[in-house]
Amino acid sequence: MSNSKNNFPPARILAIESSCDETAAAVLENGRVLLSSVVASQIDLHTQYGGVFPEVASRQHIRTIYGVVDQALEKAHMSLENMDAVAVTRGPGLAGSLVVGMNMAKGLVLGNQLPLIGVNHLEGHIYSAWLYPAETPVPPPAPEFPILALLVSGGHSELNLITNHLEYQRLGSTLDDAAGEAFDKTARLIGLPYPGGPSVQKAAVNGDPKRFNFPRALQDGSYNFSFSGVKTAVLRTVRELEIQNAPLPVEDLAASFQTAVIEVLFDKTMKAAQEYKVKSIVVAGGVSANQQLRDTFLSQQKFPVFIPPLKYCTDNAAMIAAAGYYRFVHGKTDNLDIDVLPTWPLS
Ligand code: KG4
Ligand code: ZN
Repeated sequence: MSNSKNNFPPARILAIESSCDETAAAVLENGRVLLSSVVASQIDLHTQYGGVFPEVASRQHIRTIYGVVDQALEKAHMSLENMDAVAVTRGPGLAGSLVVGMNMAKGLVLGNQLPLIGVNHLEGHIYSAWLYPAETPVPPPAPEFPILALLVSGGHSELNLITNHLEYQRLGSTLDDAAGEAFDKTARLIGLPYPGGPSVQKAAVNGDPKRFNFPRALQDGSYNFSFSGVKTAVLRTVRELEIQNAPLPVEDLAASFQTAVIEVLFDKTMKAAQEYKVKSIVVAGGVSANQQLRDTFLSQQKFPVFIPPLKYCTDNAAMIAAAGYYRFVHGKTDNLDIDVLPTWPLS
C-alpha cells in the first residue's frame, strides 16, 4: 500500500455516491490516497428541465452504476478481494437516487463478505479536503483539528466546528436557500443555463461587481446565512430594467451577485474561525469550485485553508471513501438493514 502519514490502520475502501445527479465510484487507501475516481454526470440529461428531475436521475443511476463501479476498480487495478469495506452515501439526497447506490453497495458487501459503511454526504464533502491522488510525490498536509468547515453545496450552506474526526458542532446554517441554490436560481433569473454556479462564474469574469449593491444578509452576529434576499434583489433589478426596456447587464448582475454571496460566506467564516481559535479552515461542497471564493479564502494569511481540487468539490465518491475510511477505523460500520436517509443533518 502507498505510504501516507496516518495514525490509523491501513484500509482500502470502495465507495459509491448516487445522492443526486452524479453516479460515482472510487477506490481509496488509508483515508487519503486516491487510486481511482469515476464520475458519470447527468448534467446533459437534466439541462432540458432546468434542474434535476428526480425520476430521471434514479433511472439513469440504475443504467450507469454497474459500469461506474467496474471502471473504478479497473482504474485502481484492483478487484473486490482487495477491498476492506464498501462505503456508500446514505443521505441526505434524493430518495430514489440514494436507494440505487445503497442497493448496489449492499449487493457487493453481501457477495464479498465486506463491512458496509453508510456515509453522510455532507461529511463526505468535508473529507474531500483530505484527498490526494496516488501519484502525488509528497503527501500534502491534512487539515489540523480543531477545524472550521464551510460547507456550501446545492442543498446546504453551513458552518461546522470539527473538534476531532467525526465530531461536528453546527455553528450556523442557511435559513432559506443554500448558496448553490441561490447561484442556480439567480442564473435562471438572468437567463443563464443550468447548473447556475459555473454559468454565473463565467459571466461574472467580465462583469462589474460594484455595479449593483445587493444585500449582504444576515448581519445579526450569528453564523446563519440567508440568500433569498439577494436573489429577490436580483429579481427586482431585472424587473426594473425590463420595464425600462433596457438590455440586461448579465455580466454585471452575475459579478455583483457573486460578490455579495462570497463576501458574506467569507466574513462569517473568518469571524467563526477567530472566535473558536481553529487551526484550519476547510471550504467544501460544489460552490467551493467557485474561483472567486477560492481566491478570497486563499489570499488571507490568518488561517491555513484547505479547499479540495476542483474535481472533488462537486459530487464524487472519493470524498465518500475518505469519510468512510474514518468511520471504518473508528468502528462505525453498519448493518445490512440500514435504509437511506433523504434528510440527515450532520449534527
Ligand atoms: O456539492 P454539489 O455538487 O451537490 C450538492 O451536494 O448539492 O453542489 C452543486 C452546487 C450547485 O448548486 C452548483 O450550481 C454549485 O454547486 N456550483 C457552483 C460552482 N460549481 C458548482 N457554484 C458557484 N460557482 C461554481 N463554480
Ligand atoms: Zn454534494
